[in-house]
Amino acid sequence: MSVFNASRLLGKTVLITGASAGIGAATAVLFAKGGANLILLARRADALKGVAEAAAKAHKDSGVQQGGKIATLQVDVSDKSQVATILDKIPQDLRNVDVLVNNAGFVHGVDRVGTINADDIDAMFATNVIGLIAVTQVFVPEFKARKNGLIINLGSIAGLEAYAGGSIYCATKAAVRAFGTALRKELVDTPIRVTEIQPGMVETEFSIVRFRGDKAAADKVYEGIEPLTAEDIAEEIVWVAARPPHVNIAELFVLPVNQASPTSVHRESK
Ligand SMILES: NC(=O)c1ccc[n+]([C@@H]2O[C@H](COP(=O)([O-])OP(=O)(O)OC[C@H]3O[C@@H](n4cnc5c(N)ncnc54)[C@H](OP(=O)(O)O)[C@@H]3O)[C@@H](O)[C@H]2O)c1
Repeated sequence: MSVFNASRLLGKTVLITGASAGIGAATAVLFAKGGANLILLARRADALKGVAEAAAKAHKDSGVQQGGKIATLQVDVSDKSQVATILDKIPQDLRNVDVLVNNAGFVHGVDRVGTINADDIDAMFATNVIGLIAVTQVFVPEFKARKNGLIINLGSIAGLEAYAGGSIYCATKAAVRAFGTALRKELVDTPIRVTEIQPGMVETEFSIVRFRGDKAAADKVYEGIEPLTAEDIAEEIVWVAARPPHVNIAELFVLPVNQASPTSVHRESK
């Protein structure tokens, strides 16, 4: 059975943070194809509009009748006051969110401890950890009240094994892992599921953001190896959401075939 036709996605409402690019954008398009409704959230309104249009087209082209309602929300998850108003901003007919994809996240730099910019430390924790927690806090009471819900957190290989030059990012992803694990235990007596996706190397805007727009430095990360694509991870996310309600995919560690750890990477020389 193709995940795209999975009847369990039909008419479901999915909220994706960090939906303006990369994994979030690809996930939006794939959920739309599968007949879901979407709430797309990020800081860049123009980019969100582009993703919403691509998702609407994917839904139309799929011929699926259910779903296809799409709303965009310009929200910075690191801003508590903005996160506090998310529910009020969601159009009435999309209020009953079924799936929350906590995907917004980033890394800045490869600086070693002692030289890391203090604002970068704050910003990474504010988005990757505190923002993710704040958004989850909004939806857990909703999910409990409706006895339904799936939370998919984007962790990382970096949360499983830390590497030099990534101390802060790795610490944020380890925090995501601890938070999700505790939440899964808190929700064990409910139908609410919590999943963590842990990708290895995925070629998106991620490295461009890491190297502050230096495309050449970003390209070097993927030199000599075929990395995962945003679509590869989107397939995993949509697959998780299409499992039967009694199945919780707790964790999914997904690597390119030539990566075995953050530093164990086989590269073909040209
Ligand atoms: N790429 C990889 O190798 C990799 C590996 C493992 C895990 N991950 C994780 O996967 C997730 C998605 O990354 P990606 O590779 O798709 O990167 P990306 O292409 O850079 O996309 C990141 C997304 O997060 C959004 N975002 C960043 N800060 C935000 C904030 N404060 N509020 C709201 N949205 C925010 C960005 O949108 P705006 O700029 O418009 O806000 C963008 O849509 C991240 O959590 C990342 O840590 C990535």
